Amino acid sequence: MATIKSPVVLVLLYIYMAATVAQLQRFEHPVKSDGSLSFLVVGDWGRRGLYNQSNVAYQMGNVGERMDVNFIISTGDNFYDNGLIDEDDPAFFESFTAVYTAPSLQKQWYSVLGNHDYRGNVLAQFSPVLTQRDSKWLCLRSFILHAGHVDFFFVDTTPFQDKYFTEIDQEYDWRDILPRENYLSDLLKDVDAALQKSSAKWKIVVGHHTIFSAGHHGNTEELVDKLLPILEANDVNLYINGHDHCLEHISSLNSRLQFLTSGGGSKAWRGAIKPFNLDEMKFYYDGQGFMAVEITEIEAYVAFYDIFGNMLHKWSSYESTHSAW
Ligand SMILES: *[C@@H]1O[C@H](CO)[C@@H](O)[C@H](O)[C@H]1NC(C)=O
Repeated sequence: MATIKSPVVLVLLYIYMAATVAQLQRFEHPVKSDGSLSFLVVGDWGRRGLYNQSNVAYQMGNVGERMDVNFIISTGDNFYDNGLIDEDDPAFFESFTAVYTAPSLQKQWYSVLGNHDYRGNVLAQFSPVLTQRDSKWLCLRSFILHAGHVDFFFVDTTPFQDKYFTEIDQEYDWRDILPRENYLSDLLKDVDAALQKSSAKWKIVVGHHTIFSAGHHGNTEELVDKLLPILEANDVNLYINGHDHCLEHISSLNSRLQFLTSGGGSKAWRGAIKPFNLDEMKFYYDGQGFMAVEITEIEAYVAFYDIFGNMLHKWSSYESTHSAW
C-alpha cells in the first residue's frame, strides 16, 4: 500500500471516499414502549379514491387503529397514470390527503417511487412543499430507516428495468439518474455496504418492482440478477414490493428471504396468474387490499387484508441468533 505524503493526495482521497461511501440518507423511527414495531404497506394506489382505493384506505384505518401502527410504507406508483405534474398538482390532495383520512393513518408515510411516478415530474414528489401541505408525506429514491431492532432499506428499483429506457411511446423523468450505469452501480454498492454494516435483528428491503411474482408483470430479471444476490448475501429477512396489482407471498427455498407483494392499493383484478413453483407460492390474491406487519425482537407477523377487512393470509417467523426455517 502506498504511503500518502502530499496533502493534495489526502484531499483527493477524502473526496473519493466521500463519493464512494454510502450516501443513503438515514432516518430514525422510535418503536413502541413494549419494544414492538408495527406498520402497514400499500402500493399502486393513487387514483382519486377510485377502483376501491377508498375501501382499501378505510380498512387500513381500522387495522391501523387496532395495531396502533407506527408508520405506513408505500411501495410506489403513488400517483396514476403519470406521477405528479408539479408540486401544485391537485392529484396529491385528491389521491393521498383526501383518501387516507383515518386517524390511525395520520402517521409518517415512507414512500418510494414506482415506474408510473417516473412518468411525471419525479422531483415534485420529493418537494418539501408537499410535506408542508400534508405532514405525513415523505418520498425519496433510496434511503435507510432505523426503527429499533429493524432496519429498512428503501431501494429505487425503476432505473433497473431495461425496458423503460427503450420504450418509444413513453417518457420518463431520468433527471439525476443518468448516466444510468453509474447510478445503478453506486446504488447497489451503497445498499450492500449499508446492509453489511447493519446489526439490526431484522433487515427489510423495500422496492417498487417485484423480484419474484406470479402476477401480470412477473419476475423482474434485472433485480433477480443484480439485487437478489446482495439480499441473500446479507441475510435479508423480507423483500417488500408493489408493481403487480395483487397481494402475494413467496417463500424462498434456498434462503430465509420472504417475497411480499402489496400492490393492491387500487386498480386490480388483472386476471393474470403465471405458473409458479407451488412450494414457494404461499399466497396469491388478484384483488385489492394491503399488508400489515408486526415485529418484536424475536418474531415477525405478516397479514394480508382485503377491502372488507378480512384477513386473507398470515405468516409468522421466529428470529433467534442462528435461525433456520
Ligand atoms: C372492488 O372490490 C370488489 C370486492 O373485491 C370487487 O368485486 C370489485 O370488482 C372491485 N371493483 C373494482 C373497480 O376493482
